[in-house]
Amino acid sequence: KPGGAGGKPLAGRHIVITSGPTHEPIDPVRYIANRSSGKQGHAIAAAAAAAGARVTLVSGPVTIPDPPGTEVIHVESAREMLQAVKTALPADVAIMAAAVADWRSENDASQKIKKDGSGAPPALCLVENPDILATIGHHDSLRPMLLIGFAAETQNLIENAQSKLQRKRADWIVANDVSPNTGVMGGDRNTVRIVSKSGVEDWPELDKAEVALRLVNRIADFLNAD
Ligand code: CTP
Ligand code: CA
Repeated sequence: KPGGAGGKPLAGRHIVITSGPTHEPIDPVRYIANRSSGKQGHAIAAAAAAAGARVTLVSGPVTIPDPPGTEVIHVESAREMLQAVKTALPADVAIMAAAVADWRSENDASQKIKKDGSGAPPALCLVENPDILATIGHHDSLRPMLLIGFAAETQNLIENAQSKLQRKRADWIVANDVSPNTGVMGGDRNTVRIVSKSGVEDWPELDKAEVALRLVNRIADFLNAD
């Protein structure tokens, strides 16, 4: 079986990871975005590759470099990200670390929207984006044996993470507090809790690279358990 004794713990495994924000176009020069830097998802991709996995990283627009040893598919919007994830599967593990925009503009104007001189702003009509994690979680033939999501919350962290675990049919949720005072969005440190059916595991505040390493070790333990 893959990941045998002595070798790298994720050798022979394929892992699909989403990372970064998505950009949802409003017109040719404007878009909806969020504060995700991609640092946590990219760090997980780098750690999984270092542990011997074949890593497909589906990344939204970020300013950080592609992690070494990974295949990176660059996308812009949530719909492009979903398509790229479906194409990248099957995998042994999928980790949805991206901060996918929840909504996009209903009409992506083909020309730059202009002020009309009246002082009245144009209405921006939003529609909900597809939920990539939930789509994969509910798709029996695409679903990997281990499906991991994140929960970005500013309140009621555990309750919200548990409801996401169920709603999206994930196996684990990495719950993180993204309140402005934590500096998680864009920063280098992260304090997470691992929420699963068996309970909640609290991790100390760590560097995002250390969170990645711990998560990869936990994944290897899960996959290599007899
Ligand atoms: N996610 C996704 N596709 C979306 C929205 C979220 O795949 N359209 C994934 C994220 O990558 C993450 C998990 O779902 O792994 C939770 O994302 P989060 O934004 O915390 O949850 P939402 O379901 O969008 O709920 P809300 O933002 O309202 O808290
Ligand atoms: Ca969301």
